[in-house]
Amino acid sequence: MFLKNRWYLAAYSREVTRLEPLARTFLNEKVVLFRTRAGEALALEDRCPHRFAPLSVGRMTHEGIACGYHGMEFGRGGKCLNNPTQPNEKLHPNACVRAYPLEERHGMIWIWMGLATDADANLIPDWWYYDHPDWRADTQYMHVKGNYLLVVDNLLDLSHINFVHEGILGDPELADRTTSKTERTDRGLVDRWFVPDAPMVAGWAETIRDPWAQGNVDFWIDMHWEPASNLMLDVGVMPVGGKREQGLQLLSMDAITPETATTTHYFYGTSLSFHNGDTTAIDFWRKAQTFAFEQDRRIIEAVQSNMGSDWDILTMTPVINKGDRAALQARRIMRKLILEESGSPDEIEDDGENSSLLIAPISA
Ligand code: FES
Ligand SMILES: [Fe+2]
Repeated sequence: MFLKNRWYLAAYSREVTRLEPLARTFLNEKVVLFRTRAGEALALEDRCPHRFAPLSVGRMTHEGIACGYHGMEFGRGGKCLNNPTQPNEKLHPNACVRAYPLEERHGMIWIWMGLATDADANLIPDWWYYDHPDWRADTQYMHVKGNYLLVVDNLLDLSHINFVHEGILGDPELADRTTSKTERTDRGLVDRWFVPDAPMVAGWAETIRDPWAQGNVDFWIDMHWEPASNLMLDVGVMPVGGKREQGLQLLSMDAITPETATTTHYFYGTSLSFHNGDTTAIDFWRKAQTFAFEQDRRIIEAVQSNMGSDWDILTMTPVINKGDRAALQARRIMRKLILEESGSPDEIEDDGENSSLLIAPISA
């Protein structure tokens, strides 16, 4: 169901403080996040090994966190630092909790849910523009009552923009003049959409004042996906027949972190360089993005509700449209990675890039 040996966005840096511990569930595992007095972010299993009290309802100490029940204190590496009810006795070897590798970059804290010894920092998405001085950025969070792959499917299905987000990001009249293709990249996939010589959709028209953009423009929309569920949207407008360097670009991030089989943490944000020194454009896009994602959330939660407690829509034989191409390729790659990780490579059928769009489901 989950790919463990990957980085997932656990929290924004601003959420993990010295004020109070942050409890979150990732991939069905309860985790507590907090900072030591030196400012280092730590992530530990949120269950004391003594009577299983959640450490997140305990108290932060200089070096770690103390359980709120009998005071056992845990720190870096999940080690027990102190057992106050029996201070002179040797610690039991099981008096420790699991510690999860963390990496903090560009205002985001990434967690590795697999074997700590396999944690590879090169697999973290390079979202440098979230704290670059020339870019204005905004990051937000939404909880979704749906399986994480439904959210990934939605983001990789750009055909929905013209219908779900009509009037903000899309226009149904643009649907038949859009071209698209899906390509493999070193790190995953990119789904490229291009709309030539089209009137500005409302979202762009609100924020762009450049004279060349007052008539028709060319649009590009590239959605990059990296396993398991991190996406970057590179979208922009440029003069008709022009080059991207002549246009205006917006880079968005969508970090989709599974909470349980049927619930998801959705971290999203926008970043742009055409801010003209004020916050008008980023303020607009913050609101537009949240408005649009609320529209997506309503649909995704309704889909999950129709699926009941089932988490894999492909076991339910859905009708497949052309617009599902990228999402199905991503699911296919995920299936291969999950089976490899679980040590069942024999179940992987390698029938090439252009194989049937349908893929066999993975059992839970
Ligand atoms: S339950 Fe945590 S110290 Fe007892
Ligand atoms: Fe959407």
